[in-house]
Amino acid sequence: MRKTLIFVITLMTAMTTRADEGMWLPSLISQRIADMQEKGFRLEAEDIYSINQASLKDAVVLFGRGCTGELISPEGLLLTNHHCGYGQIQQHSSVEHDYLKDGFWAMNRSEELPNKGLTVSFLERMDDVTAQVLKGYTPDMTEEQRVELVKKNSQALIDEAVKEGKGLRATVEALYYGNQYFLFLYREYADVRLVGAPPSSIGKFGGDTDNWMWPRHTGDFSMFRIYADKDNNPAPYSMDNVPYRPKKYFHISTKGVQEGDFTFIYGFPGRTQEYIHSEGVRYIEEIGDPHKIHLRTLRLDIMNKHQAESQKVRIQYSSKNANVSNAWKKWQGEVKGIKKMKTVQTKKEFEKAFAKWAEGREFDGVISKIESIYAELEPYQFATDYYSETVRTIEVANFAMSTARLFREDGFDKAKATELAETFYKDWYLPIDKESFIAVMNEYEKNVPADFKPIYYKEKLASYGSIETWAEDIFTNSIFVDPAKVNALKDEDKAMVMADPAVEFFNEFLKWYTYEIQPVTTRLNQDLQLAYRDYMRGQMVYCRTRRVPKAFYPDANLTLRVAYGHIKGYTPADGTYYLPSSTIKGIMEKDNPDIFDYNIPQRLRDIYATKDYGRWADASGEVPVCFIATNHTTGGNSGSPVINADGDLIGLNFDRVWEGTMSDIVFDPEICRNIALDVRYVLFTIEKIGGAGYLLNEMTFTE
Ligand code: ARG
Ligand code: ASP
Repeated sequence: MRKTLIFVITLMTAMTTRADEGMWLPSLISQRIADMQEKGFRLEAEDIYSINQASLKDAVVLFGRGCTGELISPEGLLLTNHHCGYGQIQQHSSVEHDYLKDGFWAMNRSEELPNKGLTVSFLERMDDVTAQVLKGYTPDMTEEQRVELVKKNSQALIDEAVKEGKGLRATVEALYYGNQYFLFLYREYADVRLVGAPPSSIGKFGGDTDNWMWPRHTGDFSMFRIYADKDNNPAPYSMDNVPYRPKKYFHISTKGVQEGDFTFIYGFPGRTQEYIHSEGVRYIEEIGDPHKIHLRTLRLDIMNKHQAESQKVRIQYSSKNANVSNAWKKWQGEVKGIKKMKTVQTKKEFEKAFAKWAEGREFDGVISKIESIYAELEPYQFATDYYSETVRTIEVANFAMSTARLFREDGFDKAKATELAETFYKDWYLPIDKESFIAVMNEYEKNVPADFKPIYYKEKLASYGSIETWAEDIFTNSIFVDPAKVNALKDEDKAMVMADPAVEFFNEFLKWYTYEIQPVTTRLNQDLQLAYRDYMRGQMVYCRTRRVPKAFYPDANLTLRVAYGHIKGYTPADGTYYLPSSTIKGIMEKDNPDIFDYNIPQRLRDIYATKDYGRWADASGEVPVCFIATNHTTGGNSGSPVINADGDLIGLNFDRVWEGTMSDIVFDPEICRNIALDVRYVLFTIEKIGGAGYLLNEMTFTE
């Protein structure tokens, strides 16, 4: 009796949507608004999302294809993270104009820098289109047929939706594993110019040492401006374009934040897997993450060594290094978090109870079905993970293949090849690539079972005798290690290029993956998708009938979401409590000339010495820098506005605390915190460090 009771209680706590967990759909926010208001929010659902009037959603954009940004002036001024604008800042940088190192500020509109390929997307509206997407579906269809049908119906909806105006783009996304479908209609702007960025010693202060960590002191922001044609419509870059006039922009609150204050994040979270089966979690915890971490450790050690030796290489690999190290560090926190939460065990217990309950019901057998699919999938998943973390990371091989693809029916696309080569060689350093090849391919040899290696690979390795000799061949004999040879390529060279060792390496692996691995993973993932669709619905029915008070929200899929919570510290370990905010004082405490990541700009030192903070000091007399809150966020939420109870901007989301990075799989309200940049530090930096205080004139402050 006692045992069952304890069991039910554990189950309930495990399954209950804990305070602050959740990424809610803005169009359905009326279902949450009472809870939000109870927690302190003072606006209405229509203020968050409306298709009849301007609402906060009109001030939020998908920045590129993986970050969020927000409008902060009636003249198209946009705020996002430094790490989101990093690629653009780096593209404009060279040893002579090192905007990464020194920062950049346009002192007037004509100095704002255009960015090829960068777009921002506003959500016009989102609609539940489940019925239309599944029109013609019959239960006797296979999953493959269903996928085809969904694709066809979705395309028709998309074609119809984008007819309505200029620059429209639409997607249809599955929610709850395809139990529901939504159409998202975006207006996409392609003339987005860089307005400013702080020096990396502010924008990336703490670098990878502090990444995913609290206490944090990173001034992680950059500024852009959206340009439109004279009618405010999207248009490609043109000198004639004018600043975009948003339907809505954020007003800025400089009042400051207190522990317990209501906060709300509006942005584009990328991917979560909150409802997955224990086997999926076990693979991540015990196999996928540990192997990927190890492979990246090898590559990072190599990059770091060479970057420390040369300023040129440091710039060339800054962005690449940050990308590799970001997930590398996150996975380590994730594994720890999953272990600590005993997620596999908790899920197993739930699955057992669920399976028993499901007997004789619609969901009978779904648990064991998922288990058997995972068992079949595992070696293929492992091979895929290795392929993407080894072969696919060899830079010269990627570049060689991209160039080889430019030999088309009607000849070699010389112009495109020249452009590609220019971009590639600007940031490529052969010793790093070569040493990485040797390091990761040796791991590949050691850890991937023979049955899951291409025949090509095995024969090649036998003929070379070692990975080192193989590397020697590619990095000495491939024409792609020599810019002069690449620039001399002509129509007749196709056969030679296809036989090049770098092209061959990439291409043979690609063929193997495409013909031997991918078809199996696609089939199994479709089976899995189908089983999950039932399991997802099953979890909902189960919780309802067993009266488990759980509110379900769809997993993140890079669509606009609302997350709300409050400002709160946490206890990362026994005997320690972290306060929820940091100040400029902490930057000075971290000061250490021996650690590159803790390099402080002289200007900031001077200001600190004289306490010349202007209007940016808080009650303690220091300038606030970052704060943490309980909002449920993930990758993609970077750059998201952090909004107070009145709908005003108080900060800029950019990270999560390391101990809480398992929140993509399991959310712990005690530990999971998002990290935000205090908007006052943004303003302080623009004015006092950047000397671009003129930009503040176009903003609206609430007090
Ligand atoms: N961890 C943050 C996110 O996932 C910031 C990453 C950029 N910063 C870095 N040092 N790599 O995007
Ligand atoms: N830093 C992440 C991003 O770039 C945010 C996160 O994972 O918490 O979106």
